[in-house]
Amino acid sequence: MSMPQSGPAVAFDTVRWVGDARSGFLRLIDQTLLPTEYVEIDLRDVPAVWEAIKSLRVRGAPAIGVAAAYGAVIGARAQGCQEASLVRRSLALAAASLRTSRPTAVNLFWALDRMESCLNDEGPDDGAEILEKLLVEARLIDEEDRAMCRAIGRHGAALVQPGQGILTHCNAGGLATADYGTALAVVFAAHEQGKSLRVFADETRPLLQGARLTAWELGRRGIPVTLICDNMAAQVMRERKVQMVVVGADRIASNGDTANKIGTYGVAVLAKAHGIPFYVAAPSSTFDLSIADGTAIPIEQRDPREITHGFGRQTAPEGVDVYNPAFDVTPAELIAGIITEKGVIRPVNRETIHDVLTSA
Ligand code: MRU
Repeated sequence: MSMPQSGPAVAFDTVRWVGDARSGFLRLIDQTLLPTEYVEIDLRDVPAVWEAIKSLRVRGAPAIGVAAAYGAVIGARAQGCQEASLVRRSLALAAASLRTSRPTAVNLFWALDRMESCLNDEGPDDGAEILEKLLVEARLIDEEDRAMCRAIGRHGAALVQPGQGILTHCNAGGLATADYGTALAVVFAAHEQGKSLRVFADETRPLLQGARLTAWELGRRGIPVTLICDNMAAQVMRERKVQMVVVGADRIASNGDTANKIGTYGVAVLAKAHGIPFYVAAPSSTFDLSIADGTAIPIEQRDPREITHGFGRQTAPEGVDVYNPAFDVTPAELIAGIITEKGVIRPVNRETIHDVLTSA
């Protein structure tokens, strides 16, 4: 099987900081251009970072969090690097702006909270030192995400049996995180252990993260992947081509209800109907323990043109009413387990989530 390839070999940096705290910048892969063009863009101000998150140049909950953390460093310099009060004020303004970019992925808010709270009252009173401290924190968020993804892969691979078909939705790979992914980390780790498997990738309407990004990532690693339209999942399950479903998450409530890319809930219902275990893979930074259940998760509504004019071609009558929620919520009872960096939460309920997340 040959696939169009672009960009470097397997390894890539979805998001990275280039340079020092005073003059460095954020470099990221423009994911809107994949799979046909591999282009890195440099972002040097908060509006550019905000736009990159909003327009999905960088997307996927953990990657959004990492990008926002580096964006906060950039924003903190907006009124100069010397005066501590101005750096703190600029940071607050930058964080407030970045918080409005996308509402559902809690990693965005988690990362920005960390960036603001790392400057406690006794923090440095020199602007340059504050910037250094902010860059250290952003790099930590980046590195921790890499480590969490590797651990998710290790825990999740143990659930994979050789020869299985695994269905996934959207893209929860290295492109959606600092590195290696969450749902795809499970696949990558199982593959690295020598387990044969085949991934069925939902194309993921309307923005095709499954077709454009998941198929690209798996193909580059030589992992067998079959692309299907979203409306083929039921048929694929009935034909017993799939023995496991694993997806990522944008926000998990304290009872385990999970928001992920629109269409995930439907996949979970189908998996239940066919007796196929449905797993969510996510780091602890994706849990929002401040909310009781999925009804409190804000669901992003996106531009109707993503549906009527997908990728530039009009495919619906002008002016038609459109509903375009970017995410849905899968109830905890449909989830066989949540694969975290601390282990697999199973069964999924308030107590088991608390126990695993608070374990050492
Ligand atoms: O709109 P997107 O592309 O940011 O949506 C991404 C997803 O829904 C992913 O499945 C989720 O963020 C998990 S990423 C590890």
